[in-house]
Amino acid sequence: MDQDAPQCEVGFIGLGVMGKNLALNLADNGYNIAAFDVDHDKIADVTQQDILENGSERIVPCSSFTELLSKLSSPHLIVLSVPAGHPVDDVCHKLIDAGICADDIVIDTGNSKWNDTVRREQEYEGKFLFFSTAVSGGEVGARFGPSLMPSGDRYAWARIEPMWKAIAAKVDPDTGKPIERFEPGNPVIEGEPCATYIGPNGAGHFVKTVHNGIEYADMQLICEAYHLMRSCLDMTPKEIAAIFREWNQGLLDSYLVEISAEVLEAVDSDTGQPLVDVILDCAGQKGTGLWTAVSALEVGSPATTITHSVFARALSALKEDRVLASKHLSGPQIDAAIVGDRGEFIQQLHDALYCSKICAYAQGFQLMKTASDEHDWDLDFAGIAKIWRAGCIIRAVFLQSITNAYDTDDDLHNLLLDPYFAEQISNYQSNWRQAIAKSTLLGIPCGGFSSALAYYDSYRTETLPANLLQGQRDYFGAHTFERIDKPRGKHFHVEWSRPGQPMVKMK
Ligand code: 6PG
Repeated sequence: MDQDAPQCEVGFIGLGVMGKNLALNLADNGYNIAAFDVDHDKIADVTQQDILENGSERIVPCSSFTELLSKLSSPHLIVLSVPAGHPVDDVCHKLIDAGICADDIVIDTGNSKWNDTVRREQEYEGKFLFFSTAVSGGEVGARFGPSLMPSGDRYAWARIEPMWKAIAAKVDPDTGKPIERFEPGNPVIEGEPCATYIGPNGAGHFVKTVHNGIEYADMQLICEAYHLMRSCLDMTPKEIAAIFREWNQGLLDSYLVEISAEVLEAVDSDTGQPLVDVILDCAGQKGTGLWTAVSALEVGSPATTITHSVFARALSALKEDRVLASKHLSGPQIDAAIVGDRGEFIQQLHDALYCSKICAYAQGFQLMKTASDEHDWDLDFAGIAKIWRAGCIIRAVFLQSITNAYDTDDDLHNLLLDPYFAEQISNYQSNWRQAIAKSTLLGIPCGGFSSALAYYDSYRTETLPANLLQGQRDYFGAHTFERIDKPRGKHFHVEWSRPGQPMVKMK
């Protein structure tokens, strides 16, 4: 390729794990790329890999932003894969200095905070078109087909759409299952692409944030099932892996159950022990689960299982405290009579995981609905469920049922009200309750399962005790309350009789 001619369709900035693999994926799909990273070794690495895998020299190394712009056809299309936060703005300012124009498009593919995306779109208006695309799927997804959640200017989307649809994961339209092929130079071109326009400004990053919140919940729920099998049935990691493989053939068929089995089967090369037994039980987090929980609290959308999953990681990180407390605080012993029949208990855990998973997704979709109404994003929930069927971390057969639910009723208030899911929970809830009752009696924490059940039971309860709560608030703070026999929105206060004073009077 003549490297002096402006012949690349895409500029790529940031060649870390995600950036490198997205760039190679684009090259696989026939795109010529002008590539830059502050670390020149990373540029050399990706260009070499491109030559080795494609023999095509589609990735052209650039040593500066100016050189990168000079290699691109106009208007410029530039993809950023840099860490979320100030690096995104640093690169944007450098591109402005290098001469980027008003109709050029810059796409942020990082795990950015959705409100930063809203701010950036406004801040860079007139300088260039700031567009965002949240990416899920990790390293392998980026390389062979991620799930993409693009949002921003519609004109920019028209230009970006063919590119994103080419590199995205694909779903078999007949089965709703991913079409997977992990071969460099031989991308999947058939099937339905997991990339759809999500909405204006920060909508895509918000949806990705909720994806990650659900991911936290999914992972926590699987871990609780593992913990209960381990503690109550004394099962080995290998035996639990076999159960997960079995579960992965049915209702729980998902990437996260599949990789959990693989993690449990792995053996530590140093000690010969199951690897999971030498991994410290302190969970890390980069913050997207926290953002989901904060967003849920801010808009008052009860994402209790997601939020619990964030706190469960925080609790796990208090290792020293837990070691100390384990020597001082008492709890019950494992009692085989409570655990009951092994096969029956494993089935109860399966059903608890399944029902809790339904609730976690119901919470995530409810949160997206609330945010969509608040920000006028007009989110298409069937479309979102569709692009989560392949490529992303929460990909699962289950997402086809969610797609069906929103295809049938795009104004569904809550996934729990969909007839299919309502029936599923009705069929499996008895075992869900048994699993929680047993783990509570045995002292094994299962906050994911139980927060989901409390969500379900609260959501289906016509009268909650918030009447008393409103009375308490009015009593100590004159905060007023609504009455069941008066129109909504009319507020009342009572002169409460204090001890030794006469009866209440309504105002
Ligand atoms: C994905 C993942 C990805 C990542 C996050 C979460 O969709 O590809 O969600 O975004 O794994 O960084 O990581 P933490 O568990 O560290 O928050």
